[in-house]
Amino acid sequence: MVYHHKDSIRDVLEAYYKMNAPIGLVPTMGALHHGHLELIARSQAENAITIISIFVNPTQFDNAGDLEKYPRTLEQDVAMIKELAGNFIVFNPSPEHLYEDDVRSQSYDFGGIEKEMEGAHRTGHFDGVGTVLSLFFKALKPTNAYFGEKDFQQLQIVRKLVEIESLPVTIVGCPIVREESGLAMSSRNKRLNETELEEATLLHKTLLGATERFESHTIEELKKWAIHEFEKNPNIQLEYFEIAEADTLTSVSEKKKNTQYRVFLAAFVGPVRLIDNMALN
Ligand code: PAF
Repeated sequence: MVYHHKDSIRDVLEAYYKMNAPIGLVPTMGALHHGHLELIARSQAENAITIISIFVNPTQFDNAGDLEKYPRTLEQDVAMIKELAGNFIVFNPSPEHLYEDDVRSQSYDFGGIEKEMEGAHRTGHFDGVGTVLSLFFKALKPTNAYFGEKDFQQLQIVRKLVEIESLPVTIVGCPIVREESGLAMSSRNKRLNETELEEATLLHKTLLGATERFESHTIEELKKWAIHEFEKNPNIQLEYFEIAEADTLTSVSEKKKNTQYRVFLAAFVGPVRLIDNMALN
C-alpha cells in the first residue's frame, strides 16, 4: 500500500489508465491532519483510486532548520488514511529517487504571482513547489489533484503550472479546515505547545477583524490596525499582512469597485511560521 518507487506505483496505476478510470492525487508532506483527510475523502468520492504522496520536498525549503524539524510520521499518517476506508495508495519516494539524483529546482515564471507574499519571503519556495508537483503529475498522471485553500497562493501557482506545462490534470481547490479555536489546520501546528496554540488564534481573529472592517476602513487603516493587534503579543511576530486581488494576488493599497479581495498573513508563533488567509468581499 506504500510505494517508494515510481515503477512499482505505476504498475498499480496501469489498470486504471487502461480503464480510463479517474485517479485522484493528494500531494502532502505528511504529518497529516483533518484538513488533509478532507482532501483525501473528497478525492476518494470523486475518483476510482486516490494517491496520497507523502514527501517532505527539500527544494521548497529556504531554511535548513525548518526542513530538518518538519514532522515525519509516516506510520501514523497511513493509519489515519486507512480509517477513511476508501481506495488509496501512498507514494513515499526518497528525494534522490524522485529527482533522479539531481535534487534541484527548476526556475519558473508564473507571471508574477510567485513574487508576492510567500514568494517574497521564502526565496525559491515556489520554484521548489512547481518542480516537485511537475514531477508528480508527470510520473503519476492523475486525473484530478486536490489542494487546500490555506495555501491559496500555492493553489494559484499550481493552476498556472499546469497551464504553462499543458498538463492534463484538473486542479481542485478545497476550503480551509479550522480547529474549533479558528486556527487553520496545519502540520506545523504539531510544533506548538499549549500556550502557543492559544496565542496562534490571533491569526484567525485578525483575519475576521479585517473582514468586519473591510467596507468601512481604507487598506492603510486596516494594515495599521492589524500591525497594532500583533504588537500586543511579543511572542508572535507578524511577517506580512497583505490585502490582494483574489485572482492576480497583487497586493493593493486602494480598493477598486467590482474586484474580489483576500487578506493574507504570515506570522511566527515562537519559532513556528504559520500562514492563513480569508476572502474579504
Ligand atoms: O502544501 C504542501 O504540503 C506542499 O507544498 C506540496 C503541495 C505537497 C508540495 O510539496
